[in-house]
Amino acid sequence: MKIRFVLNGENVSVESSMTRRLLDVIRSDFDLTGTKEGCSEGECGACLVYLDKELVNACLIPMGNVVGREVLTIEGLSNSEEYKRVEKAFIDEGGVQCGYCTPGFVMSTNELIKNKKDLSEDEIKEGLSGNLCRCTGYQSIVEAVKKLSGEGSNNG
Ligand code: FES
Ligand code: FES
Repeated sequence: MKIRFVLNGENVSVESSMTRRLLDVIRSDFDLTGTKEGCSEGECGACLVYLDKELVNACLIPMGNVVGREVLTIEGLSNSEEYKRVEKAFIDEGGVQCGYCTPGFVMSTNELIKNKKDLSEDEIKEGLSGNLCRCTGYQSIVEAVKKLSGEGSNNG
């Protein structure tokens, strides 16, 4: 059946069953391969996308839940100024190695810093607890988010 929804600001439609995963539709039907598949079980955060402005794991979302709703992937987010700040901080702090987990971390970071400034290390770790990385040892990613969350505050 035809399923209509909004993808990165554009009205789109796709032939799909209601049970197909949003992750597969994004990657296979729309070639938006920035959204990654890691665990396929909602544990690693590699497949994070916004669904109506709420972060969700696309590997757990059937297309039946997407009808008429708004999806924003890392490609859509990458047009924003916010994304460029996050990207720079991750690169500057060495928070990117193989890069497989990076889109998911960027989505979580975007969510974290848009909601609150001057995050403590514990708040950052809690905010990133749904994302797994096999390469960086995490501290460089935490440092990147710390830097971002302090920007625009008195701490500079
Ligand atoms: S692939 Fe979706 S959370 Fe890991
Ligand atoms: S940078 Fe390789 S999995 Fe995170």
